[in-house]
Amino acid sequence: MIRVSQLRKTFGATVAVDGISFEVAEGEVVGFLGPNGAGKSTTMRMLTTYLDPDAGEIEIAGVDVLERPIEARRRLGYLPESAPLYEELGVLETLRYAGRIRGLGGARLRDRVDAMVDACGLEKVVAKDVGELSKGYRQRVGLAQTLIHDPDFLILDEPTTGLDPNQIREIRALVRRIGETKTILLSTHILPEVQATCSRCLIIHDGKLVADDDPNRLVDATASATGQRFRLVIRGTTAAAARPALKRVPGVSDVEADDLPDGAVAAAVTGAGDALGEELFRRAVKEDWVLAELRPERASLEDVFRRLTHGDEEGDR
Ligand SMILES: Nc1ncnc2c1ncn2[C@@H]1O[C@H](COP(=O)(O)OP(=O)(O)OP(=O)(O)O)[C@@H](O)[C@H]1O
Ligand SMILES: [Mg+2]
Repeated sequence: MIRVSQLRKTFGATVAVDGISFEVAEGEVVGFLGPNGAGKSTTMRMLTTYLDPDAGEIEIAGVDVLERPIEARRRLGYLPESAPLYEELGVLETLRYAGRIRGLGGARLRDRVDAMVDACGLEKVVAKDVGELSKGYRQRVGLAQTLIHDPDFLILDEPTTGLDPNQIREIRALVRRIGETKTILLSTHILPEVQATCSRCLIIHDGKLVADDDPNRLVDATASATGQRFRLVIRGTTAAAARPALKRVPGVSDVEADDLPDGAVAAAVTGAGDALGEELFRRAVKEDWVLAELRPERASLEDVFRRLTHGDEEGDR
């Protein structure tokens, strides 16, 4: 397992990582989220021995990363934010080179390169130079390089950044497949990716851990903290008339209503209580409205993220 305790890193006056602690159990795929500048990459660089912390402890599979960095590295695969690849090297050469750096040679190296071509879907591009590849394929080569020595632990820093939706889906499927046999910590800004891929997510903000839980549980917790939201389309009234009528519905805390071009009213209602949907329906009957639509809107990980990081995607230092 990965065990991080009270990790801290400053760059001059900037506190990049401010005493974070977490664990990743063997076999888990954990998402690492946070706004730009939150400290994700800095944390990952410390986990992978590329940066020394100011304070704290890191343990990977029982190995103290700070005391025995070389042994820790053997267990780790790290895909940094911008994977370093040599444009003029061929795909196979790149993998062989990565393997040799990791101490592989001979038949074992050949086997591992073949296995990586297979696992990362590189068959079509084995004859090409890295410089000729699309971003998605480059990323696959990066992943193959990261996996060449068959590490049990993978640290992936935004593996799908800059990819198109199809490539994102492919890399996500690849990560999920790899995750069946490995322990993965993965940072990303694509929140649905976390719900699709991860059994747990960590959210970091200003260098501090602000959430550590199952993504679905985080979504439920946010939904019960901020209330449920319903979308309505109503005929037979105006936004000006519907607004106060909806506000009077028991449990309702917030109403937005707008007149649509076709004469209907679109409303979004937030409130608490299990019976909110029923209450809204009853109000519509009482007011003699035609309810063209009444739809609960499920909270998303995006709502969780916004709530815990105060909506700043900028990083405020
Ligand atoms: N080498 C460095 N020198 C100085 N400051 C740094 C250095 N690396 C990171 N920082 C600062 O540390 C903070 C955390 O940066 P980090 O790269 O870890 O954020 P991040 O969460 O990975 O953000 P992003 O989503 O943009 O990748 C930022 O304020 C950043 O400017
Ligand atoms: Mg980063």
